[in-house]
Amino acid sequence: MDVMRTKSIEQSIAETDEEGFQLKKKLSALDLTVFGIGVIIGAGIFTLTGRAAADYAGPSIALSFVLAAVCCGLAALCYAEFASTVPVSGSAYTFSYASLGELVAWIIGWDLLLELMLGASVVAQGWSQYAVLFLDKVGVTIPESVAPGSAFDLPAFVLVVVLTALISIGIKESLRVNLVLVAVKLFIVLFVIFAGIAFIDSANYSPFIPPSATSGEAASGLTAPLIQVVFGLEPSTYGVLGIVSGAAIVFFAYIGFDVVATTAEEARNPQRDLPIGIIASLVICTVLYVATTLVITGMVKYDRIDPDAALASAFEAVGKPGYATLIAAGAVAGLMTVVMTLIIGATRVTFAMSRDWLLPRALARTSPRTGTPVRLTLIIGSVIALVASLTPIGKLEEMVNIGTLSAFALVSIAVPVLRRKRPDLKRSFTVPFSPVLPVLAALISVYLMLNLSVETWIRFLVWMAVGFLIYFLYGVRNSRLAAQERGEYVPVGTDTPAAPPST
Ligand code: ALA
Repeated sequence: MDVMRTKSIEQSIAETDEEGFQLKKKLSALDLTVFGIGVIIGAGIFTLTGRAAADYAGPSIALSFVLAAVCCGLAALCYAEFASTVPVSGSAYTFSYASLGELVAWIIGWDLLLELMLGASVVAQGWSQYAVLFLDKVGVTIPESVAPGSAFDLPAFVLVVVLTALISIGIKESLRVNLVLVAVKLFIVLFVIFAGIAFIDSANYSPFIPPSATSGEAASGLTAPLIQVVFGLEPSTYGVLGIVSGAAIVFFAYIGFDVVATTAEEARNPQRDLPIGIIASLVICTVLYVATTLVITGMVKYDRIDPDAALASAFEAVGKPGYATLIAAGAVAGLMTVVMTLIIGATRVTFAMSRDWLLPRALARTSPRTGTPVRLTLIIGSVIALVASLTPIGKLEEMVNIGTLSAFALVSIAVPVLRRKRPDLKRSFTVPFSPVLPVLAALISVYLMLNLSVETWIRFLVWMAVGFLIYFLYGVRNSRLAAQERGEYVPVGTDTPAAPPST
């Protein structure tokens, strides 16, 4: 069995037309951009910013956002090139199946599942906290026994169940709800920026990069960044290294532009619109993020920023509790769209994997009425609902980051690989200065990964080990390409077995 076998782009595209496994092509460039913004702006800016500014970078957290944006921008170019060449559901998974081979594709798909399912659960819990805060402000109290942080987080559970039902009805319908919620979210972020400017005290910016503080002893323990432990560095907060550590954390705030590529098959004109959707949503969010962080760190001295709800608390700190309530309400609407989009992304990646028979094929069946993979949506939604409501996942954003960064690194490498293997393909968008920029994208992604904690690395390696096990126990023998290799795969509409795949 050849685990390096690749699936030709032509075959991937042809299989999107298989009877009973088709998705509906309804999305425009605007839909895709809104979809991108809907998933990008979320728990990252509403909650993580405060923690990263207070613990790592002070006002220079704005530079952490710029650094993370550079990494994401380079990766976004690579995603855009792939999405314009391989307009098939599954994003990084499908791209690497065409270029790096089945095993790498499976690993990336497995990584994406980590990113999307855990991301949805983390943000659902963040939503639940904001929802309870908001309800409290308007006089409704959720019983302690089912509040966030208890054994059963009821609001998070209800949210995921409702969103799963909505997604099963149809993607266009989901995006219509998305559009309204994204508009509310954009309004709130712009409100924070413009209302906050008046309260900026320039004294809060000094020092802009707080002097680095070291403990005098080499880093150790599970919570220290891997790179510091491996090289025996002294842990430091603030300073230039603090900006990098901050970037590795706030990277979470950008996650989502890659999810746009998972809907490739549902775009009306994927070659043109996917690059627009991916790049436009990332650029818009970068500008908003840098402006928001400059305003917040200008309003409140970095060592007094609230690590849990920085945006709302900054307005409380300057004597505007009414604004804080409005922001909490906006966060409730805004985080909802993130969870919804991440669930859609998770179903589309598993859909692509099952349609390639790396997971049981029957899972990928779409409903003729809604044109969505209803079975998979219900399964994935149930898993996320249970993880979000029953597990104390707390600060697992780092796990989401490591899964995404590793996919970025592999996708970036795959760009020059596919160009060499298939120079003939039509590419309506190309990364400039390849292979320099793709290689740079991969290096920055790996560097940020090394700045994540030892604990995160251990959890990540365990997740990967489980992935390898499933592949070698199931996928390697059952995939469509394995059947093709054995001469047993007869493509739809023909009566002769397909030729074995190439590597
Ligand atoms: N970027 C998304 C967020 O910040 C995942 O919530």
